[in-house]
Order: sequence, then structure tokens, then C-alpha cells
Amino acid sequence: MAPVDSSNSPVAGETVCVTGANGFIASWIVKLLLEKGYTVRGTVRNPDDPKNDHLRELEGAKERLTLWKADLLDFEGLKVAINGSHGVFHIASPVTNDHEQMVEPAVQGTKNVIIAAAEAKVRRVVFTSSSGAVYLDPNRSPDVVVDESCWSDLDYLKTAANWYCYGKEMAEKTAWAEAKERGVDLVVVIPVMVLGPLLQPYVNASIGHILKYLNGSVKTYANSTQAYVHIKDTTLAHILVYEKPEASGRYFCVESLLHRGEVVEILAKLFPEYPIPTKCSDEKNPREKPFKFSNQKLRDLGMEFTPVSQGLYDTVKSLQEKGLIQNPSPPILNQN
Ligand SMILES: NC(=O)c1ccc[n+]([C@@H]2O[C@H](COP(=O)([O-])OP(=O)(O)OC[C@H]3O[C@@H](n4cnc5c(N)ncnc54)[C@H](OP(=O)(O)O)[C@@H]3O)[C@@H](O)[C@H]2O)c1
Repeated sequence: MAPVDSSNSPVAGETVCVTGANGFIASWIVKLLLEKGYTVRGTVRNPDDPKNDHLRELEGAKERLTLWKADLLDFEGLKVAINGSHGVFHIASPVTNDHEQMVEPAVQGTKNVIIAAAEAKVRRVVFTSSSGAVYLDPNRSPDVVVDESCWSDLDYLKTAANWYCYGKEMAEKTAWAEAKERGVDLVVVIPVMVLGPLLQPYVNASIGHILKYLNGSVKTYANSTQAYVHIKDTTLAHILVYEKPEASGRYFCVESLLHRGEVVEILAKLFPEYPIPTKCSDEKNPREKPFKFSNQKLRDLGMEFTPVSQGLYDTVKSLQEKGLIQNPSPPILNQN
């Protein structure tokens, strides 16, 4: 975790609402908020679902965490949960490429959250966007440094049927438009693929991205690059932009970019016991080059980023500890 200490923040005793509290990123944010003394109102779709149990076990949860039932399309549910909060962390979103399940809930849900936050007159809303809303533009020159000024090309996303990234970009644009119209102080964190230990009992999409290289479900790796960041840095970025009065606009939350070939190499070095692919699925074309990026804006707020190899290590260790990956069978001894 980066060494920024914001524990003395004057807002650390506030009541804040976290949407989708049981998810991978949100669980960590709830954990840190509770540790810092906040009172947290988490929204979940079903408070009675055992998949929320890890939240109730967090330090401070008994005294300062309440769970509220709210789907993103349920404006009244969101309104009740947000009313009485000083701030909102809007993290809930479908994470799917299915058009119907993705776009409408992400966009209308974000609109609902901003309207409810405006009505509750909260101090600030932090919205979790995605790098999918930023870097996907086939017409951008490879010399461009990708940062907070960039947006993905919506027409390209539509043509590619990349509905997750399309939905995230439309949701972020909706958040900006609604916040402007209603005078809401909005700050946006834009994480890339997030790695690290899980608090929740299931494998979310970004952890699944690594799990597939360990459990034998893929035999090759793709000829593509991916940007990564550690969950603890992602968590801290959200809290920093909430607490720092000078924070404004968008914050690209990225540590490094790796080709899939580099990811499997690091994994194989750290965990040689797993059947990690060694071949690229594309042996014809040259290796895809990483794009240039800047995370200077978050560094200017005091962030220091954890190296990606630590994120990969922590992900696998956590999957092992939670029993979410089988330990590979021991090698059969040659009896001859
Ligand atoms: N993990 C990453 O690498 C990454 C990178 C960039 C951005 N993000 C963004 O970060 C946020 C959290 O992602 P995550 O990785 O933590 O995913 P996750 O573990 O799948 O969490 C998603 C959360 O959103 C909730 N949700 C989904 N659809 C909903 C709906 N219609 N109404 C209410 N809640 C709904 C889920 O609730 P249920 O449990 O009920 O389904 C869950 O709590 C998302 O906005 C995602 O786009 C993630």
C-alpha cells in the first residue's frame, strides 16, 4: 500500500454511502473507510445474501456499517440509502459485455445516484469509471500519452460490440452531465485492471483474468497488452480524491502496462507449480506494443504505486488462501 496517510482528514468521521458494497473494489473501500472512522451505508441488491458476510466481519462494521437494499434501477432505494450521507462512492456497475444487462443499468443507475446525491446535498460524489472509457481509440497515435484528457471512441466501441466499455463511458459522461446540471461536486477515479487480494468470497472479472492462466483453462496467451493497478492503490485513490479538497476532475489509476507474455512469465517465475501457458495464440504478427500513459495526477495527490508483480503475487496467494484455486497435484514420483 502506498504510504499516504490521510487518517487525520477532517472528514474522516463522516457518513458515506458506498454503492455495490459487496463487490471486489467496494469491499476494500468499505474496509478502509471503517478503519478510518467513517460511518458507512453500503447498498447491495440483497442484504440477506451470505455473499455480504465478509462485510459484517470487517473491523468497525458492527458499530458503523449498515447495508441497504438497492438495485441501480431502483431510484427510491438509492435515495433512502444516500439521504443523510455526507458523500457517495458510486462503485456499483454491471461488469458484463451483454448490451441489455450492461448499458441501461450502468447509465440510468449512475443518473439515479447523482440525482439522489444532489437531493441529499452531499459534499462530494466519487464515481468509479474504467480505463475502457479512456484508452480505446484506434485513431489515436501511439505517441500520445494516455491520461485524464482521453476518451475511448464510442463509435469504435459500438462497432466492436464492446458493451462493457461503451456502458462505462456513457455512465461516466452521464455522471459529468448530471453533476454539472445539479451542482454536484463529482470526482472520478479511472482504474485499469485491478489485481490483489480478495475480500469477497467469489472471483470477480479482473481476478478471473489471472485465474485462467493458473487453472489450465487457457492453453495460450493473447497477443495484447493490459494495464494493471493494485487493489490497495485503487482503494487509496478513491479515499484520497474524496478527502482532498483540491481533488477535481478525473484520475487515471494505473501502475504499469504489460504484454500478456510478460504476465505469464512473472506468474511462472512466482508459481512454477501451475500449468501456465508459454505460447502466444498469435505467432504471425509482431508483439502488440503498450501505449504510453501518465499517472502523474494521482502522484501529485501523494500516491505511490505498488509494482504489478506484487499485485500478481497477492492475487494468487489470495486465491489459494480462499480455496478458489486448486493446489496443483504433486508430481508423480518415478518408481523405477
Ligand atoms: N476490477 C477491475 O479491474 C475494474 C477496473 C476498472 C473499473 N472497475 C469498476 O469498478 C467497479 C467495481 O468493480 P469490481 O471489479 O469490484 O466488480 P464486482 O466485484 O463484480 O462488483 C460489482 C458490484 O456492482 C453491483 N451491481 C452490478 N449490477 C448492479 C445493479 N443492477 N444494481 C445494483 N448493483 C449492481 C454488484 O452487485 P451484485 O453482487 O448484486 O451483483 C457488485 O456489488 C465497477 O464500476 C467496475 O466497472 C473495475
